[in-house]
Amino acid sequence: MSSSAISPDRIAQLTARERARFAAARPHSAALAARNAEHLLFGVPLHWMSDWGTPFALHVAEARGAQLTDVDGHRLVDFCLGDTGAMFGHSPAPVVAALQAQAARGLTAMLASEDAAAVGELLAARFGLPRWQFAMTATDANRFLLRWLRAVTGRSVLLVFNGCYHGTVDDVFVDLVDGRPVQRPSLLGQVHDLTQTTRVVEFNDLAALEAALAPGDVACVLAEPVMTNIGMVLPEPGFWPAAAELVRRHGSLLVLDETHTISSGPGGYARAHGLAPDALVLGKPLGGGMPCAAYGFTAELAARCEAAKRAAPPGHSGIGTTLTANLLAMAAMRATLSSLMTDAVYQPMLALAGELAQGLRGAIARHGLPWCVSQVGARAEFQFCDRPPRNGSEAAAAMNDALEHLLHLALLNRGVLITPFHNMMLVCPETSAADVERLVQAFDAVLAELTAP
Ligand SMILES: Cc1ncc(COP(=O)(O)O)c(C=O)c1O
Repeated sequence: MSSSAISPDRIAQLTARERARFAAARPHSAALAARNAEHLLFGVPLHWMSDWGTPFALHVAEARGAQLTDVDGHRLVDFCLGDTGAMFGHSPAPVVAALQAQAARGLTAMLASEDAAAVGELLAARFGLPRWQFAMTATDANRFLLRWLRAVTGRSVLLVFNGCYHGTVDDVFVDLVDGRPVQRPSLLGQVHDLTQTTRVVEFNDLAALEAALAPGDVACVLAEPVMTNIGMVLPEPGFWPAAAELVRRHGSLLVLDETHTISSGPGGYARAHGLAPDALVLGKPLGGGMPCAAYGFTAELAARCEAAKRAAPPGHSGIGTTLTANLLAMAAMRATLSSLMTDAVYQPMLALAGELAQGLRGAIARHGLPWCVSQVGARAEFQFCDRPPRNGSEAAAAMNDALEHLLHLALLNRGVLITPFHNMMLVCPETSAADVERLVQAFDAVLAELTAP
């Protein structure tokens, strides 16, 4: 039985029941959703908050550690964790203390503080790159890095992997459709032809990568070391060392976006697997839940960036935002890097994510479903295909929106929250073995209903 062999009628019938169950139990969320509909576009502060599979937006009263309480008093075990922003748990104590200490001493000044020196040292020690800059979001970090790298190489083309996501950086939204690059039609208000300056190849395809680099016009390859935004796509053994060598041989630069793969350990996937990118991007959990991002350079690349800026005429660089690296953000990053991004914090998270992945595999096997589970450190993902996909096209083919929505909603109604986009689950330091057991049991119960004769 493949995911699509589960009858659409069964999915529709169970979805209707779960939607009714959600609505009946959440009068306060319903009332707030109605109130928000008056003044907020789509009734939510950010339009994609209406993409959860719920009949109306779930409203949060409080979030602590691995728990989230909604405004109707339901306690949920949170495996979404703000899609990684809260990977170190909601309101982690060291970050709360740092914020409290800083909050009365200045929030933003567009000036450096002592925290900047400490954060720079911690980032260099953790990630092995000596020079850093900051941004408010990983999207901005990617966008700014792309500018730096186009400036230093004098090359215009960005190379990405099919099915990637690096935030709302317009340049990356080019897909391979029947082997041809196509600008993603869902993009709103994009007036430039991105296919002129973005080249796209399949992940794990070294021959395609080499062909795309061969013209010598690629400024950089921007990639997650493991694709995590189209379900999960793991690199095949030897892919990254060979890809890095190709990038170098063609005079291009390798940027690894570790926004999600920071789940691998305190130095990210690259450190854990001995990869040596030219630049690295960090975001989401870097400030323990505060908006913070950072990007790092090798010494050689940093020198080229400084030279490019010095050589440019005075005026706007197109890089930076006023509140970037504000005093509060620097305090949050210092606390996160020194107290949370440590081996001691990660070890139990990785072990528990392993148990979660095993538990999910067990449930899938019990119900005879040809689905697979992948894990990258503290993060696990189930996919509706019988073996891990090799690239973005295979991963996209395994997706089933209706089934995803049903599973997410049914799990939510059973007290566990997973990411609304694809099937990602993340373990934080406060997640307990009982929380994992609860998720596995809920998953098992939903699969039983889905597959019942
Ligand atoms: C790999 C990757 N990079 C960058 C981003 C953008 O992060 P943000 O939305 O915080 O800017 C995301 C968001 O999901 C991501 O998955």
